[in-house]
Amino acid sequence: MSDLPQPERIPYHLAIIMDGNGRWAKARGLPRQAGHRAGVDNLRRVLRACSEFGIRILTIYAFSTENWGRPEAEVKGLLNILETVIDRELDNLHANGVQLRHLGEISALSPGLQVKVRRAVERTRNNDRLTLNVAFNYGGRDEIIRAIQRIVSDGIPPEQIDETLLNFYLDTAGLPDCDLIVRTGGEMRISNFLVWQSVYAEYYATPKFFPDFDREELYQALLHYNNRERRFGLVLKP
Ligand code: IPE
Ligand code: IPE
Ligand code: MG
Repeated sequence: MSDLPQPERIPYHLAIIMDGNGRWAKARGLPRQAGHRAGVDNLRRVLRACSEFGIRILTIYAFSTENWGRPEAEVKGLLNILETVIDRELDNLHANGVQLRHLGEISALSPGLQVKVRRAVERTRNNDRLTLNVAFNYGGRDEIIRAIQRIVSDGIPPEQIDETLLNFYLDTAGLPDCDLIVRTGGEMRISNFLVWQSVYAEYYATPKFFPDFDREELYQALLHYNNRERRFGLVLKP
């Protein structure tokens, strides 16, 4: 199936900050929306490659809580893309055993879109080939704040609050922390992504814009991950 050798260690949970769509479009003299569309089209390729390499959880950063501050037309365009992608890809994702989850605050989306997202999550909930978390209207700080609000409103006594409990209240409840975070587009920052879940993640940044991030690029990220020694604060035996 693959002409690329399988890396020895595969991250169980890969997260991608899909950045650089706008610059990809600009470099071609196209509107930013064309870059966002190219990014989404590329997702299919990335998903296929993840599945081929045996990655079990893929989290993608599609729209941050800060992205609402972009021009109205761009925000509308991104919301449209989310809706179109659900309409167009859901059957195929479902047929391929992909379990869809949404990370982020759903109530800011239009009622129609909320229904679509909820239905897609519900329909695919028993799939177990690959979990695809779509972070849309997601911010790591917002996620933690919403978790704390629910902990308080559930009346949990302070002495019962620990990491396990907080994990349970996050949007990623039940999922392990991410192992590798890839950021395309060349920036070296986290931009409010997976603040809690990334404390021991490995990082990989590539200058490639997301629409150009292909299987070979993912493979390079995996090779890089294989060369990292993960110590988790411990001293490893010589
Ligand atoms: C990432 O691409 C997609 C979103 C943030 C929605 P950008 O739109 O940030 O592209 P650049 O960084 O401006 O090139
Ligand atoms: C991060 O990209 C958010 C997403 C990829 C959805 P941004 O382009 O919004 O981040 P900054 O502004 O470069 O930090
Ligand atoms: Mg950007």
